[in-house]
Amino acid sequence: MTSGANLRVLADPAELAHTATLVVLAHARAAIAARGSFHLALAGGSTPRATYAELARRGAAAGFAHWHAWFGDERCVPPEDAPSNYRLARDSRLLARLPARQIHRLRGEAPEPEHEAWRYARELVATLGSPPRLDLVLLGLGPDGHTASLFPGTPALEARGWVTVGRAPTPPVERLTLTLRTLAEARCALFLVSGLDKAPMLAQILAALPGDLPASLVHPRAGTLLWLADRSAAPADTER
Ligand code: 6PG
Repeated sequence: MTSGANLRVLADPAELAHTATLVVLAHARAAIAARGSFHLALAGGSTPRATYAELARRGAAAGFAHWHAWFGDERCVPPEDAPSNYRLARDSRLLARLPARQIHRLRGEAPEPEHEAWRYARELVATLGSPPRLDLVLLGLGPDGHTASLFPGTPALEARGWVTVGRAPTPPVERLTLTLRTLAEARCALFLVSGLDKAPMLAQILAALPGDLPASLVHPRAGTLLWLADRSAAPADTER
């Protein structure tokens, strides 16, 4: 259930990125202290770019040697292509701070996306056990209510595995995505929402009306759900 209680409203995109950085670092410290590692799933899109760049500038205290980067979703394109979420994270310099063996790339270039979904699910289970519990999953919100590459009314929402193939209404149409089942296993699901174009959808989700908007279906069963929104995306009546 999403309510005002798990929403924090920040003044602008810069404060959103800084706050998101602090939240990620806090979860990293706790995960490393508890289990010796921090497994973070990265989101695509444009909103998280500033957060990745700020994280990349952090010093050794972040404990990057213990971080594992996963991908919440990936477009079915090669990693060098502009739409690639891997390229977004790499160009932010965040991936350069992690040991290469601890970067778990979703291979968008795979000729058979279904097989890549199966392979990635095996990598998740081999690394994290079953169910695969990521420490923190970064998520964005589309104006249509999608998150990761889980789009409204698509079969991906019903997938029973850990990773599936999603279909977007806009190119690149084919995508790879963690499923709602995997997101439900996360210790923390952290949404980052910025921009006036997201305000109607965020208000609808915060109203917690029954429905099947993908972003409203993310419910960590034994974890926390937190929404960070900048003032332009937040409903007018929410306090900062
Ligand atoms: C993707 C993302 C997607 C994104 C939202 C918000 O691969 O595009 O995973 O779910 O988070 O579309 O995107 P913006 O941050 O660009 O608004």
